[in-house]
Amino acid sequence: MDLPVAVFDSGVGGLTVLHELLVSLPGEDYLYLGDTARFPYGGRTVDELRDFAGEIAAHLIERGAKLLVIACNSATAAALDDLRQRLEDSGSTVPVIGVIKPESVLAAAATKTGRIGLLATTATTESGAYERAIAAADPHTQVVAVACPDLAPVIQSGSPFDDQVVQMVRRYCEPLIEAKVDTVILGCTHYPLIRPLLQRTLGPGVRIITSGDAVSRRVEHALSINNILKPAGGPEGRYSFSCTGDPDAFREVGERFLQLPLGSVERVILDSGDLT
Ligand code: DGL
Repeated sequence: MDLPVAVFDSGVGGLTVLHELLVSLPGEDYLYLGDTARFPYGGRTVDELRDFAGEIAAHLIERGAKLLVIACNSATAAALDDLRQRLEDSGSTVPVIGVIKPESVLAAAATKTGRIGLLATTATTESGAYERAIAAADPHTQVVAVACPDLAPVIQSGSPFDDQVVQMVRRYCEPLIEAKVDTVILGCTHYPLIRPLLQRTLGPGVRIITSGDAVSRRVEHALSINNILKPAGGPEGRYSFSCTGDPDAFREVGERFLQLPLGSVERVILDSGDLT
């Protein structure tokens, strides 16, 4: 089916998920939206995040999306169930994939000691969504969660990582090192963009789990069971980018992180038109 898989985030963080999709399902077409005008999502309320997700989903479905990936942990925590319900109520059959459950299942399978660390935005840690998903995957685990309110904004800004950033990362990782976790979930799609710094701070023995690792298999499965997966072995698919803020700023940071040309980035204005 020649319709795109749509991926969205508050900014460039979801590119870490898109990157995995481009590699594992190269024949699919992709449409990426960064809601940069309203970045960051990490301090937003549940109601705000549900409204944003509804507006973005309506826009992407109007653009022909055959499947939606919420490549943002904050939006997944607040809006995944609500969005699925609203889509179903509106008669839409477009599947929606979030990033929390797949990552939690991987983390529960990866830990040997049962002690799992979580680095995430305040919206995500306050939701308790990871604790619930990890307990459902394995009740004999303990989650140590650390909110990192300043981390995604530093990454999104594209400014060079200086000593202050290194100190900030150290401060956020400290409680996880003290708790001797053996597995750390990067519970914000921006964080894999500084993975080497995080791995060095946490130590080589700690297994890092990212949303990108976990999501591509879910997407493939959802496309397949809905009979909308493009057959393997076909030509490479296309991808395009849009954002709600400054397209040049998005392209500059996005190309650096995705390490692929983004082409022209379209600026979109989301109307508050909704799904129902
Ligand atoms: N990338 C978003 C997430 O995964 C968060 C960044 C933000 O605060 O907007 O939660």
